[in-house]
This record gives sequence, C-alpha cells and structure tokens, in this order.
Amino acid sequence: MALPGSVGILGGTGPAGRGLALRLAAAGIAVVIGSRDEGRAQEVAAQLAGPGPLSGAANRVAASADAVVVATPWEAAAQTAGELADVLAGKLVISMVNALVRVGREFQAVVPVRGSMAATLQAVLARSRVTAAFHHLPAGDLTDLARPLDADVLVCADDPAAGEETVALVEAIAGLRGVLCGSLASANAVEALTAVLLNVNRRYKAHSAIRLTGLGERA
Ligand SMILES: NC(=O)c1ccc[n+]([C@@H]2O[C@H](COP(=O)([O-])OP(=O)(O)OC[C@H]3O[C@@H](n4cnc5c(N)ncnc54)[C@H](OP(=O)(O)O)[C@@H]3O)[C@@H](O)[C@H]2O)c1
Repeated sequence: MALPGSVGILGGTGPAGRGLALRLAAAGIAVVIGSRDEGRAQEVAAQLAGPGPLSGAANRVAASADAVVVATPWEAAAQTAGELADVLAGKLVISMVNALVRVGREFQAVVPVRGSMAATLQAVLARSRVTAAFHHLPAGDLTDLARPLDADVLVCADDPAAGEETVALVEAIAGLRGVLCGSLASANAVEALTAVLLNVNRRYKAHSAIRLTGLGERA
C-alpha cells in the first residue's frame, strides 16, 4: 500500500500532534504541522526540526496535504475540520481525537452525539474518507525518539481502502502495528478505552499502550 507523500496535522502544535509529526517525519514522510496561528506552527516546526521533512503552516494549508490527521481537543475538532471540508474533500482524514473529561483525578469518556469523534467528523466531512487511529499512544512516548515504540494501533474505517491506507501509515512508524478493528461504529469503544489507559497511567505512573495477543506476526 502506497504511503501518502505528505501528512498535515490539524492542531499539530499540541503534544499529540508534535509527537506524531516527529515519528512520521522520522519515517521520511513530509509533515505539515497545522495551527490556527501560522507563526506558532512555524515556531513549533522549527523547534522539532531534526529527523525529517517537517514544516508549519495554517490549518488550511496543512489540510491540503495528501492525508490529514485531526489532533485538536475534542470540543474543537468538528468545527476545525468542518471549516476545511472543501479542502479535505476526497482525502483520507484520520481522527486521533478522544472525547474525555477529568472528574477529580479520574479520566472519563464522553460519548459524542454520533457515538464517537470519528463518526462526528465523518458527518461533517461527508466527502472525505474518515478513519480513527493513534488514540492510545502517549504523546510523551511519541515525542521521545530515543524511546522505542512497541504498540498496536487500533484502526476503524468505513471505507476498506482508507483503513488499509491508515494501517500503512501507522506501520511506517517503527514499532507500531496497525490492527483493523471494525467500522467507525467501533470507534466509540476505541476512543473510550483511552480514558481507561490514562487512569492506568496515573495509578501506576506508567506509559501504557496496547498490544493484542493471538494475532500472530501480522494483523
Ligand atoms: N496528548 C496525548 O497523549 C494524546 C494521545 C493520543 C491522542 N490524543 C488526542 O489528540 C488530540 C490532541 O491532543 P493534545 O494533547 O495535543 O491537545 P491540545 O494540546 O489540547 O490541543 C492540540 C492543539 O489544538 C489546537 N486547539 C486548541 N484549542 C482549539 C480550538 N478551540 N479550536 C481549534 N484548535 C484548537 C491548538 O493548536 P493551535 O493553538 O496552534 O491552533 C493545540 O495546540 C486530543 O483530541 C487528544 O484526545 C492525545
């Protein structure tokens, strides 16, 4: 499966977007970190510069990349992506967005009206091919290139080809295996599991991610 020549990240200036940008750039993929503020995106890209082709630009410019990742807070994702629906038409759009709230010290999953953030994004991006991936990878681990990754990435997709393209992108990153786990109807469970992992991480001062057993060499 061919990899996209470039990946744009909406909200790429946050910890999750920065970490993913670094890993994708290290894999040789041209990454455009997107922001509401072009200057901030360029600053972040300059700070991260190192492993590969990485630049910063306004979200609208990042959205013109071959494939696009949504990495904003969940409350902002539908509006941010929806405003770019024309630019994103026909593209693979990967949601790594988790709808979570913190109640005291505990993270709890919020169920968006359409069941998941990925399904919500597909609703506002009717002409795009939305998939869900990268939800469970701690940003700190992504950002620390000296730390080897060892995790499965659950991928949900309504469009089978979009799912395969997402798996290929996941597996371009060393140490990650993409696992197709259903349509966007399953994204609610994937997104909600993030709250569980964050509670585990808080309880055990850990950086947990997930690895499925019983799959054999490849999914
Ligand atoms: N952090 C993690 O370990 C991790 C891991 C996997 C998945 N995720 C998911 O990935 C997403 C991003 O996580 P994060 O921790 O990087 O989040 P974040 O730092 O809170 O936000 C990421 C970026 O989104 C933009 N943003 C913030 N508020 C916005 C608004 N109202 N409208 C439009 N853009 C806005 C900001 O960029 P500009 O100000 O530059 O526009 C910000 O730098 C979340 O949905 C999260 O659940 C996070």
